[in-house]
Amino acid sequence: MLRPFDPTSPLPPQEAGWDEHLRFAYMEVDAFWLTRWTPQTGWEPGRLYEQRGARLELSPAANILYYGQGVFEGLKAFRTRSGKIVLFRPQDNARRLRASAARLAMEPPPVDLFLEAVTSVVRANARWVPAPEKGSFYLRPVLIGTEPMLGVRPSQEYLFYVFGSPVGPYMGGNRLLVLSSVHRSAPYGTGSAKAAGNYAGCLRPQKIARDQGYVDVLYLDAREDRYIEELTGANFFAILKDGTLVTPALGSILPGITRDSILTIAREIFGWIAVERKLAIDEVLNDAAEAFYVGTAAVLSPVTSINYRGVDHPIGDGSPGPRAQMLRQALIEIQLQEQPDLWGWVVEVT
Ligand code: COI
Repeated sequence: MLRPFDPTSPLPPQEAGWDEHLRFAYMEVDAFWLTRWTPQTGWEPGRLYEQRGARLELSPAANILYYGQGVFEGLKAFRTRSGKIVLFRPQDNARRLRASAARLAMEPPPVDLFLEAVTSVVRANARWVPAPEKGSFYLRPVLIGTEPMLGVRPSQEYLFYVFGSPVGPYMGGNRLLVLSSVHRSAPYGTGSAKAAGNYAGCLRPQKIARDQGYVDVLYLDAREDRYIEELTGANFFAILKDGTLVTPALGSILPGITRDSILTIAREIFGWIAVERKLAIDEVLNDAAEAFYVGTAAVLSPVTSINYRGVDHPIGDGSPGPRAQMLRQALIEIQLQEQPDLWGWVVEVT
């Protein structure tokens, strides 16, 4: 059931301490935004609905439920220390959603519609954007094919909606596990799309890793089982002993917006050599001084060891490295408007 959100009606009080000890978990806030597409109407004007108790009504025959036409995004709004609310690179998320939609033959929402949706959700839920030291407000734009159907073909009806939740840190563990029995994606597959099914395929390997005390799986390429791809929901970087920052080239991995931000910060703020290329697991184990993973949810976490073929290999001296910390600090300071934003990444919402 969906109830239109009325910004003039009184809101239920927030529980005392709601923003203490935030985790990366769903919390029901005040409002989410939704619109529909059909060939007859195109994208209908979107609007806000109450998030508390909201349920989507879908036909049991809806495409998303079994052919899996579903793509999504993740981006964050931050409250700066001067009290502004800002989004980080929302246009890039809008463009990536369109690219993911194209890969799955879905109707892509226009960039402006995406921006209207995310800003409306942030404005309506401004009281849920935590103070900078407590967390951030995570936005989840979702596009799903909803036409009731039977034969395999693209849906002719879509829902595009955006919900949000205050969040704290995601993952944060430092030990990774390489599993040679599974791959996340194949050459020319859907690995570069933020497709819901890509994550479903990672759940069993993730459970195997977590049951053994690792934070996540580090996937290798499907062709040679040798070149690093990424984690379930984060991109991988290594800093070699000669100081070069290396990350796997795009292709079958997610073109991460944090990945791109880190490459840019490394090159343009620190003047480091930063390259995107094939990165073999052996090279990392033998020649990396530091390693880390990055993502919107994960931000940047150091990798201190990688288990490969049953052996835990320390990275560098086995403790978090100083250059990863420099990159993390710079990224956070730019996001919070505490360092100049040379690229127009930060968009003020208030
Ligand atoms: C993100 O980092 O925003 C993602 O969507 C990854 C997800 C696994 C939490």
